[in-house]
Amino acid sequence: MQIQTATINDVPEILELQHKAFLPVGEVLNWLDAPNITETIETALEEFPKYTVLKMVADNGKIVGSVRGKVEDGSLFIGRLMVLPEYQRNGYAKELLHKIQEVLPHNRVWLETTSDITSTYTFYEREGFRTFKTEHFDNGVSWVSMAKWELHTNRILLRPWREDDVEALYKYASDPDIGTRAGWPPHKSIEDSTEVLRNILMNDTTWAIILRETGEPIGSIGYMTNYTSTLPSRPNEPLVGYWVGKPYWNKGICTEALNLMIKHIRAVSDYKSLVSSHFVDNPASGRVMQKCGFVATGETCVDSDLSGMEKPMAVLRLEFS
Ligand SMILES: CC(C)(COP(=O)(O)OP(=O)(O)OC[C@H]1O[C@@H](n2cnc3c(N)ncnc32)[C@H](O)[C@@H]1OP(=O)(O)O)[C@@H](O)C(=O)NCCC(=O)NCCS
Repeated sequence: MQIQTATINDVPEILELQHKAFLPVGEVLNWLDAPNITETIETALEEFPKYTVLKMVADNGKIVGSVRGKVEDGSLFIGRLMVLPEYQRNGYAKELLHKIQEVLPHNRVWLETTSDITSTYTFYEREGFRTFKTEHFDNGVSWVSMAKWELHTNRILLRPWREDDVEALYKYASDPDIGTRAGWPPHKSIEDSTEVLRNILMNDTTWAIILRETGEPIGSIGYMTNYTSTLPSRPNEPLVGYWVGKPYWNKGICTEALNLMIKHIRAVSDYKSLVSSHFVDNPASGRVMQKCGFVATGETCVDSDLSGMEKPMAVLRLEFS
């Protein structure tokens, strides 16, 4: 299988694929006159130049999947993600979805789908998309708009964690020098990392730090408001946490990631401040916070380290003025 950019000559084959791929969906929804099922070759040819269209091509030259996207004001709209029924459940849709996001630079990505088909909806949720608008059509179909914000610099990208990140997560989080400094036990197995991924990292306020050059997750950053801690925080004040894989320390990566996340928090919420803490024997973490505008509150709190000893932590706060 190979993903290639489609040309106008591919339109008839892609349209045929579209009809085959969306017909079963139309049957389940009882919506056989849905636009993607009834689209004619004239409309398909007219629409084609407005998008970048990718095709998934089998070794025998047959087009077995496709997706299209266009960017407006930094916002990437993705549509017509489809795989021939007999080729589904092989990960091809995921590959197409990742590829279109890779080839079309953007800050935000969105799409429309139905929430009535659980498998499709959870597929997009696992990919980090979240519903921001729901419409109930007269024919009974619930139609949702889902979006994902992406935050990036020239060097790194913050994106939601995904299940297929597990090996990279294990590679870095099994290093005792990471967890011990951040207050969690090093991962002992891939199963450990899978559990952490599902229960701790895959949520709306945690991101994988991706090195754009390689596409690999090399760290994590996030914030949370629901936590129990000895930290002298204000009510509902988000607590910030992060780590970066050891080979990438002292290159300014965490500072870049924290600045991106602060910008995001300021754009999407009305929090007045952020709080964080670090073990006093982990000054590099305090330095990252300071470089991003956090100021030591002068308070310390005590947390149990992994050996069961009490270890002091310095508390820092960023006030949004
Ligand atoms: C803390 C951590 C995230 C920093 O990531 P990073 O990408 O190396 O951070 P940056 O390169 O952006 O900044 C590191 C800063 O710390 C400084 N630093 C490194 N070691 C230091 C030390 N022993 N003493 C004082 N400063 C130190 C660096 O010089 C740099 O500051 P500078 O730019 O002024 O020179 C990373 O070391 C890590 O993952 N540690 C383990 C997990 C952890 O501690 N998480 C935080 C828990 S509170």
